[in-house]
Amino acid sequence: MLTKIILTLSLLLSTQAALLNETDYTFSISAYNSAIAELDKVLKKVSVGDVLTAAKYKPLDYSQWMRDTPYFIKGFRWSQKDPADETDTEWSPQGLTTSWDSGYPSGSVDGQDNILLVSWNDQRNKTGASSEAGKGVRVSFLRNATAQGVSPVNRAYTHALLVEPFMNGQNADYRLLDNVISGGIVWRGDYLYITDRQLGLRVFDLKHIYQVKNDASVGKNGNTYSGGGYDYVIPQAYTYTKSLPRGVSFSPHSASLDRNTTPPCLLLGESTPDGTNATFARFFLNSTSNLLSISKSSSPTKPVATWAYKALLFNSEGATFANGNYWLTSNDGDNVKGELYQWLPGERTDGQAIFPPGVQGIAYKPAGDELWVVGSVPGKRYVMALNAGLKNATLEQVPAAPTGGANDGSGGSGGQDPAVQSKKKMSGGAIAGTVIGVLIGVSLVGGGVFMIMRRRKAAQTPPVQEPVYLKPELSGGAGVAGAGQAWGSKKELANEQHVVPAQELPQDVERYELGAGRDSVREMPGAPAEGKWRA
Ligand SMILES: *[C@@H]1O[C@H](CO)[C@@H](O)[C@H](O)[C@H]1NC(C)=O
Ligand SMILES: *[C@@H]1O[C@H](CO)[C@@H](O)[C@H](O)[C@H]1NC(C)=O
Ligand SMILES: *[C@@H]1O[C@H](CO)[C@@H](O)[C@H](O)[C@H]1NC(C)=O
Ligand SMILES: *[C@@H]1O[C@H](CO)[C@@H](O)[C@H](O)[C@H]1NC(C)=O
Ligand SMILES: *[C@@H]1O[C@H](CO)[C@@H](O)[C@H](O)[C@H]1NC(C)=O
Ligand SMILES: *[C@@H]1O[C@H](CO)[C@@H](O)[C@H](O)[C@H]1NC(C)=O
Repeated sequence: MLTKIILTLSLLLSTQAALLNETDYTFSISAYNSAIAELDKVLKKVSVGDVLTAAKYKPLDYSQWMRDTPYFIKGFRWSQKDPADETDTEWSPQGLTTSWDSGYPSGSVDGQDNILLVSWNDQRNKTGASSEAGKGVRVSFLRNATAQGVSPVNRAYTHALLVEPFMNGQNADYRLLDNVISGGIVWRGDYLYITDRQLGLRVFDLKHIYQVKNDASVGKNGNTYSGGGYDYVIPQAYTYTKSLPRGVSFSPHSASLDRNTTPPCLLLGESTPDGTNATFARFFLNSTSNLLSISKSSSPTKPVATWAYKALLFNSEGATFANGNYWLTSNDGDNVKGELYQWLPGERTDGQAIFPPGVQGIAYKPAGDELWVVGSVPGKRYVMALNAGLKNATLEQVPAAPTGGANDGSGGSGGQDPAVQSKKKMSGGAIAGTVIGVLIGVSLVGGGVFMIMRRRKAAQTPPVQEPVYLKPELSGGAGVAGAGQAWGSKKELANEQHVVPAQELPQDVERYELGAGRDSVREMPGAPAEGKWRA
């Protein structure tokens, strides 16, 4: 096997991923939390629209250091008014999801199609060694957040605390999610999914957002209920507890809506330490219940993954699907640029170190072809969108206001919509065009961030924009539960191994499945990769 290490202005990486047995990855769902019905009797319920209307924090306009990110389209920073948002280390922004995930295939919720939600995790006890449990998970609700322009009219946000309801004798109460380490969030219908590394998934019900007293305590205190410093709490309705065979591990960290299939899937990914494989697994979402689909032919009550892969990508913080690729983010620390990878499971991965440090979750917004990411480094936190076609946009200069705390985002004049100029798309060919040095062998680039291009079948490997699509692996009945659902139809089952070239699919049709066939991946020699993807 030829191993090439390619140094470019941006950094590139390529490797294989190994297909796992998807039937190993299952969850057990809990009953709906019955304390919610009791809380309904004593607390005021509000809608997502109410929360957005009440949002009062104004985000800052984006700064030049954000604008300098290749393919940047738009973005913003958190208000400096509350240090917890921008400078404190207590809360760390982790995942994000839009009204386009909730409303799929529409982008509108409560008549608004530019809503963004961002999850924040208090990771004080991430290592398990802290004497403080942390405050769990909170969610920012951002109004008009993804609208065009530098400073969209009416853009504002507020936070809500995620809580776990319980009965305390006769009284309904709730507590914060202490010791939950959560990197991902997906809004689907009225549910908010968050990952929990230890447990699996937690699902919160947005039909039961409670308006509570905004003081420091959390839960029932005498006759009042408090929100830990927030006006709103959102109750946990279900848990999905990991159910794995002996010897299999999976610690869900990132989460996104995966539009590669119809109906879409929930894509979950691990964040693993230096030099170790991360597992990515996909679960169908039931478009009626908005819960995970349950396979009839396997254990009756358990959702089963439709595919699972492992890849030698460590510090992976986000993963989503757009434009025929999976897009992964990877964060190597507060002083190192964050990376964006294009991944075809079983094929190859190309990456570039382009983000300001601290990149976390990633979510796709089809309107505008936007890949949204959050960055977590205190003092330089960002929320921004890149063009998923990897085109540079022509934007107005950053508004003259200073990048520090003085600009509270209220002075912007509403910028121009970006006119996308370049036709250049990152692909095998484009990558080659940007290569400034090709070395055979092993090399390190400062900061430990570097790329390896490793091609199993250099000549035959399809370029990124022309992947070969295979019908899904349907062994064991996993993923074929809903007979009435598009992905489970008899016709598609019959065509199981039919190869569908991607370019024949209309652009706006959801791709059914991608990835190399099980056997060819299994036969892949376990050749060593180097550096970040080192085996
Ligand atoms: C996957 O795991 C299931 C359950 O353990 C097993 O029955 C099946 O044979 C496995 N499939 C493969 C391809 O290894
Ligand atoms: C896009 O912009 C970045 C800087 O923002 C630059 O490094 C890169 O070369 C540009 N790419 C293209 C294709 O113009
Ligand atoms: C921190 O996490 C560890 C491991 O999960 C747990 O045993 C410990 O109780 C936690 N500490 C606190 C203060 O909750
Ligand atoms: C959102 O911002 C855009 C761009 O500034 C503006 O045209 C639109 O009216 C705003 N929408 C709302 C609901 O305020
Ligand atoms: C990662 O997975 C590959 C493919 O299964 C395997 O060959 C390799 O040993 C794994 N590496 C580590 C560090 O676990
Ligand atoms: C989807 O949800 C509906 C309503 O809860 C249920 O009737 C149906 O069986 C579910 N289908 C699958 C595949 O889970």
